[in-house]
Amino acid sequence: MSDARQTIEALLDEQRRFPPPDGLNRRAVVGSGDVYREARADVLAWWAKQAERLVWRRRWDEVLDWSRAPFARWFAGGRLNVTESCLDRHLPEHADRVAYYWEGEPGDRKIITYGSLHAEVCRLANALAALGVQKGDRVALYMGMVPELPATMLACARLGAPHVVVFGGFSAEALADRIADAGAKVLVTCDGAWRAGQVVPLKATADEALSRAPSVRHVLVVRRTGGDVPMLPGRDHYYDELVSAHPPWRPATECDAEDVLFILHTSGTTAKPKGIVHTCGGYLTYVTTTHSMVFDVHEKDDIYWCTADIGWITGHSYAVYAPLANGTTSVLYEGAPSHPDKDRVWDTVERYGITTMYTAPSEIRTCMKWGDSYLARHDLSSLRLLGTVGEPINPEAWMWYRDIVGSGRCPVVDTWWQTETGGLVIAPLPGVTTTKPGSATLPLPGVAADVVDGQGRSVAPGEGGYLVITEPWPGMLRGIDGDEERFFETYWRRFSRPEEGRWVFFSGDGAKRDSDGYFWLLGRVDDVMCVSGHRISTLEVESALVDHPAVAEAAVVGRSDPETGQAITAFVTLRSVVEADDDLAEELRAHVSRKIGAIARPSSVVFADELPKTRSGEIMRRLLRDISERRELGDLTTLADAGVVQDIVERAKAGRAATG
Ligand code: PRX
Repeated sequence: MSDARQTIEALLDEQRRFPPPDGLNRRAVVGSGDVYREARADVLAWWAKQAERLVWRRRWDEVLDWSRAPFARWFAGGRLNVTESCLDRHLPEHADRVAYYWEGEPGDRKIITYGSLHAEVCRLANALAALGVQKGDRVALYMGMVPELPATMLACARLGAPHVVVFGGFSAEALADRIADAGAKVLVTCDGAWRAGQVVPLKATADEALSRAPSVRHVLVVRRTGGDVPMLPGRDHYYDELVSAHPPWRPATECDAEDVLFILHTSGTTAKPKGIVHTCGGYLTYVTTTHSMVFDVHEKDDIYWCTADIGWITGHSYAVYAPLANGTTSVLYEGAPSHPDKDRVWDTVERYGITTMYTAPSEIRTCMKWGDSYLARHDLSSLRLLGTVGEPINPEAWMWYRDIVGSGRCPVVDTWWQTETGGLVIAPLPGVTTTKPGSATLPLPGVAADVVDGQGRSVAPGEGGYLVITEPWPGMLRGIDGDEERFFETYWRRFSRPEEGRWVFFSGDGAKRDSDGYFWLLGRVDDVMCVSGHRISTLEVESALVDHPAVAEAAVVGRSDPETGQAITAFVTLRSVVEADDDLAEELRAHVSRKIGAIARPSSVVFADELPKTRSGEIMRRLLRDISERRELGDLTTLADAGVVQDIVERAKAGRAATG
């Protein structure tokens, strides 16, 4: 049995042991609902109709050009600039409508209307153009959650310059890699960001990164925390000084529907992150449509809060592009949910009268652990819809979200998707799709997903398999920046039959479908972990570990964790001169934080004399996963030396796994 297959079996086993609570309406809705029917009847006509949601300068000639599959061209020949859909079109009637209620962690607040955002975007676009940024140039962003972040993304879009946002929690090395990979000419950063009462020194980290990223000519620095930061004359400029020197109007650069809107790096099964490419017309159509349908947005009276950091795809799609294109009023919060107290989230919901909340299961579990008393201090009656994303939600957290946060009144929409899909793929339509706790329910109208076995055949209900998407969709990634072969290999090779014209996208996730056709996500089946909804590659962490002089070899696995979904366990062998102790374990954890970022910090380090390997020398991660999960160990016959395993099990049991 393959490693991935065994992962699926293990996860299915887990689900059997913890079945979801019964008692909800189990009415199947597969096949019902006019929108599903309409989309199925003529999917391209359906997407053409959805594209009418946008402002086009020139209509497309062809809805989908799939002649160079798997490289798709959606709305081929169409011309637009996405900022005209996100901003300009709202101005005649709604310039005063709030686009963002922004709140800093220390409690400072700003109100950004569509009119003021438009002006800021135009000023900044002028400033970037004056620095030499032209259509097609890449601009990197390394910022906290400040209003200047969406403004900068849109200013890039106004110029047709792809943005490359790097999450503010990443290390200097991770930032340098991403800037270099994209060849960015300009970096926009902040002096610092507030997080849990501390200043995150973004500019200092950026400076370290820039010493290894020579493509960057200019750096814009947003003053946020007010600390003294070194400014390199000629290269570094204060954002506010540049922006105030330019007029609040700039015509939008006309782009092709297939011009690159942004590149966002994500972790894959190698140590090198992939730059996922999204383009203008299809992406904006897709996120705008799915946002409108799944979050049931009413532009006038909703206050919508997507809690995701804009450094990830959820923030790009559902905190910036979709809500703005739909004319939504959003809340944007800078800092940690526990600051100054553990009721910050509920306090925010109450103060802004939030109607729609979109967050990750890890955040829900953390709040659940903190206790209901923090909620009880606040009036949450404004809430009417609750969404989750990023990792499988356990039924207990789902029920708490629905019953305690939403007082049983609000539909819960569990949404499955990925950086690669651009927007939601499997999710319920509130009011149409009956939900079941723990299931993301059904593919959205216009999307075709399936669960298949190793040969690409659909599996029977209840059986686990690989989650695939069998038809192109407008939000699909257009490629991995600069690496066509990796794009093909990673997503298309495994289940496609090019000779039959059949192209199947492989998500990297395991799933099963029940007898109602509902999808139940089982987690990743490749070497990618999902920690607090953040995607981290085991290989990235392993290469950070072996970079430490004490480490000879490292193997990293994700193990289930009641709060963060998965937690990272690192199995490490040392160079013979080094003593294994708790201090070293701590040092290794800190080393990974420095190399990648705190999100990749292993929660446990297990020292071993040797790692279990097959006779051909491959590390048996499945076995390490079983050990870290304290599962029965399966077949050991392929091991080169079975004694090695016993030793690791003993060490893990004896508590020599340093945890922190
Ligand atoms: O494993 C799936 C998990 O998150 C992965 C995608 O991560 P990323 O590209 O960072 O995007 C996260 C936000 C869209 C998927 O391969 N995932 C995402 N949503 C869910 C999920 N797993 C289970 N249920 C979900 N709702």
